[in-house]
Amino acid sequence: MATGSRLAALSFLFSLLSPDDCAFSPEQIDPLLYEEQLLWVSGFQGEVNTYRIPLLSFTPKGSLLAFSEARKFSEHDKGQKFIAMRRSTDKGATWSPTSFIIDDGAIVDGLNLGSVVVDEEVGLVIVIYVLCFNHDHCSPSSTMMVESRDDGLSWSKPRNLTVQLGVKSFCPGPGFGIQKRYNPAKGRLVVCGHGTLKANGVFCILSDDHGQHWYNGGALKSIPYNQNKKAQDFSPDECQPLELTDGSIVINVRNQNSFHCRCRMVVRSYDGGLTLPIDSLYFDYELVDPAVAAGALLKDNVLYFTNPSNEQHRVNLTLRWSLTDGNSWGEKAMQIWAGPSGYSCITSLDSGSTDDEKYIFVIYEKGHTNYDETISFAKIHLFGGQ
Ligand SMILES: *[C@@H]1O[C@H](CO)[C@@H](O)[C@H](O)[C@H]1NC(C)=O
Ligand SMILES: *[C@@H]1O[C@H](CO)[C@@H](O)[C@H](O)[C@H]1NC(C)=O
Repeated sequence: MATGSRLAALSFLFSLLSPDDCAFSPEQIDPLLYEEQLLWVSGFQGEVNTYRIPLLSFTPKGSLLAFSEARKFSEHDKGQKFIAMRRSTDKGATWSPTSFIIDDGAIVDGLNLGSVVVDEEVGLVIVIYVLCFNHDHCSPSSTMMVESRDDGLSWSKPRNLTVQLGVKSFCPGPGFGIQKRYNPAKGRLVVCGHGTLKANGVFCILSDDHGQHWYNGGALKSIPYNQNKKAQDFSPDECQPLELTDGSIVINVRNQNSFHCRCRMVVRSYDGGLTLPIDSLYFDYELVDPAVAAGALLKDNVLYFTNPSNEQHRVNLTLRWSLTDGNSWGEKAMQIWAGPSGYSCITSLDSGSTDDEKYIFVIYEKGHTNYDETISFAKIHLFGGQ
């Protein structure tokens, strides 16, 4: 028996003896675009002008849910919208037809997405969005929540969280919120987002009772706060939180006015999202960024990051990974799409099966001339390029 196959036989034996051990090691990561399909195509098909702001989530039952803003009459951030959803029960191979789970009606300053957060303790999927974010012909801004208890098949009536949170304009995400898996505050739901350009910053809202009650957590405010900004002012914006295995929360943040660098800001919370201390803020020079909403995910101790990796333009959607919680990034990177590309969101399934160890799923804005032409779903085999 050659040494290689003896080793293979040995590692097979060990995998039988210790089924919890990962079959792959992080050093072996060499991603391959395994499968890609367009979930939404903009361009006045049916009632929808433009699809933007994609969110992607796992569910407690191992399905995938994709969401986007279906902008009814224009590509603009304001205006009337639906929340569009598609669902996959076979790890992204096939998807349900689009259902519009929310219709904001006819208001001028329509809904904006948003965060999706899964409460695994009670088997709940929650979507949080905002109405009247810009106070255009309406007031106040309302933070709204819908939930599904049946794996995304049906959704509750919207609940108005502004009653609990106060009337500050808060746009969650875009991306996912988290449920704390480790102490402090194990079980807490943490949803982070941003304010309007004037009153910008990263703001987190928290729930310790599975989404019944929400309260305001940490804030990292822009400077000057509540005033018009100039180029290069400090303006933390759209953000994606994730939990490290030490229980701290790391938030990867859009640097709206390119303060200090054309790169990502990172802020960390050590108390379950109650505070976002300025001392913990740093700039990740390796993650160059044109000011956009980016994707981040921690899976099996590897931190993944997606953005259009370019200082000026929304092009070059790239996947990077870190074996050191984001302190450094591998020299290799994977280009998912060279052309126009915008917002992205990453998720994965985590049943403990070897199959689920192998894949991450990325949803992103993708086009040939403009990044808002389509929303694409990419299944990435982490060890496929070997
Ligand atoms: C949400 O609640 C706030 C505070 O009570 C209220 O002012 C606002 O009109 C409500 N929004 C919606 C959409 O019902
Ligand atoms: C695309 O991203 C990679 C990784 O950050 C970078 O090396 C490359 O220069 C980028 N290309 C363009 C055209 O931005």
